[in-house]
Amino acid sequence: MTKGAVTMKAGIIGCGKIFPMHAVSIKKQPLVQLAAVCDSNGELAEKTGKQYGCSYYTDYQEMIAKEKLDTVHICTPHYLHAEMAIYALEHGIHVLTEKPMAIELKDAKQMEEAAEKNGRVLMVSFQNRFNPGSLLIKKTLEAGELGSILSARASVTWNRSDEYYSKSDWKGTWEKEGGGVIIDQAIHTLDLMNWFIDSEVQWVDATISSRAHKTIKVEDCAEGLIHYKSGLNASFYAMNYYTYDAPVEIELHCEKGMVNLTGEKAVIAFHDGRQLAADRNPMETFDFGNVKQYWGVGHMKEIQNFYSCLAEGKRPRNTAGEVMSTQELVCAIYKSGKEGRVIPIKCKSISTP
Ligand SMILES: NC(=O)c1ccc[n+]([C@@H]2O[C@H](COP(=O)([O-])OP(=O)(O)OC[C@H]3O[C@@H](n4cnc5c(N)ncnc54)[C@H](O)[C@@H]3O)[C@@H](O)[C@H]2O)c1
Repeated sequence: MTKGAVTMKAGIIGCGKIFPMHAVSIKKQPLVQLAAVCDSNGELAEKTGKQYGCSYYTDYQEMIAKEKLDTVHICTPHYLHAEMAIYALEHGIHVLTEKPMAIELKDAKQMEEAAEKNGRVLMVSFQNRFNPGSLLIKKTLEAGELGSILSARASVTWNRSDEYYSKSDWKGTWEKEGGGVIIDQAIHTLDLMNWFIDSEVQWVDATISSRAHKTIKVEDCAEGLIHYKSGLNASFYAMNYYTYDAPVEIELHCEKGMVNLTGEKAVIAFHDGRQLAADRNPMETFDFGNVKQYWGVGHMKEIQNFYSCLAEGKRPRNTAGEVMSTQELVCAIYKSGKEGRVIPIKCKSISTP
């Protein structure tokens, strides 16, 4: 794609595994230039900067001071998201941060406040909300075609090896990752289920345990019940010691039909016999370099939404307010699991504008 006159300069902090999804997606946006990258690992920063033909830094504050950036993408360990996002927002820069928004709810709220105070956008990467299957479910529920949701269940049975944890200096630690299977892997599925339900959460009753991994303290298994104001109970089960990444499952039992999301494939079976379905479009592929295929094109769509909305002065999807409910949910699951009690909460997910 040839680019027209560049109107926005982007920087990325963190050049690790998820980095190419952001870098390649930025490169595909018209009117946006990947101006700089930053990684605390100097060799990696240099190699990445040279590969993408941009400036490189080991200190994100120096990058922000020197580069006159319009946007920053945060692709660093979880404990750094809040500090980096608030710093960028206070320097007048729009932020797209990877999930989770933060480890602690109070930090996520401070991030949201910084965005509001500085009139900047803070978007959080929940790219699965952009999948065709997720959008079909959301649209059908919003149109009222399914009536109300009576109950819901979700499961995530994935595989993260001991090596996955031992090779990382932050994964598997409470301080830097903020948890295990819930905050890192199952957060996407919980976010989708919560987004579909789109109601106030009243309480969470959950257990967390560290079962199969030898070297980590955080949970590799969790289950629980989320109770919504409507009376709806949503159950979830998540673990990451299965033998492979099985397709995640969400089922919504609705007044007028059943909704099943398996992996990215949505099937809606109405009681009157009608059926709707949507899945990943096999024509929509993207070469992100040496990156796992299962991440699909969600990041590309999300980053497209971020920049096209910024260019048009509109609010992108998945901004802080829209995803705060998922942050609150994740924090309540941990609190419930650690304290062994029901955690009352009050939050409402906000639908896509
Ligand atoms: N949306 C998704 O599906 C998805 C998938 C994978 C990862 N992620 C998220 O992306 C983020 C990064 O994950 P990853 O797997 O790429 O991790 P990673 O460990 O592969 O990469 C993180 C990088 O950040 C760098 N870094 C650490 N501290 C830094 C600092 N102070 N300044 C600059 N750079 C610093 C590290 O050197 C490393 O290169 C996490 O939030 C993770 O949850 C999201």
